[in-house]
Amino acid sequence: MINLGILVSGSGTNLQAIIDTIEAKRLDAKIKIVISNNPDAFAIERAKKYHIPTFIIQDSHFPSREESDKHLVEILKSHSVDLIALAGFMRLLTPAFIRAFPLKILNIHPALLPAFPGLRVQKKAVEYGVKFSGCSVHIVDEGVDTGPIVIQAVVPVHENDTEKTLAERILKEEHRIYPQAIQFFAENRVEIKDRKVMIKDSPKVEGVLENPPVKIFK
Ligand code: GRF
Repeated sequence: MINLGILVSGSGTNLQAIIDTIEAKRLDAKIKIVISNNPDAFAIERAKKYHIPTFIIQDSHFPSREESDKHLVEILKSHSVDLIALAGFMRLLTPAFIRAFPLKILNIHPALLPAFPGLRVQKKAVEYGVKFSGCSVHIVDEGVDTGPIVIQAVVPVHENDTEKTLAERILKEEHRIYPQAIQFFAENRVEIKDRKVMIKDSPKVEGVLENPPVKIFK
């Protein structure tokens, strides 16, 4: 069993996926607190529905981001969280926050890192013309979307895709890989060497994907 702190800013569908996976007893975790920097985040409603403690932290109430992150650290520590999951948390964390929880902060990013870090990355993937995109769960370091990768899922990009249709396809996979990544931590199967994450006793993935399909070879 792992104690989670979840940081959100928006609709919270990843939070919902984590809640649902816990309820289905496929994820051995307890959400100790859900924190939002946006008082109107629908994610907060989702947490309340399951009687999960919530907290709103607004930067404007603090003299600096450092001070607000200091408070965030205190709240998370006082709830004895083992792992922090950023789930659509739309604000950068200060180095002091990241150092307070070394290798214990996860993020979900809607692209195949290290391609397309940053914001509106589904739009960037469509515009670039990549044939595959996907999502990545990674450990948060002090860079933007640069930390060690725990798990990725790949989806095809179709010729008529828009930002919205690609985002929907990717989001479905986010809801599968995020709970799985957390479960790896709950099972104590995560080993990190330099920037490589290894999952103990995980089967090797075989096979190749092409888009469009290769037809001239069997
Ligand atoms: C997801 O696409 C996630 O990858 C990104 O922000 C979006 C949040 O969605 N970081 P939700 O709030 O979990 O629905």
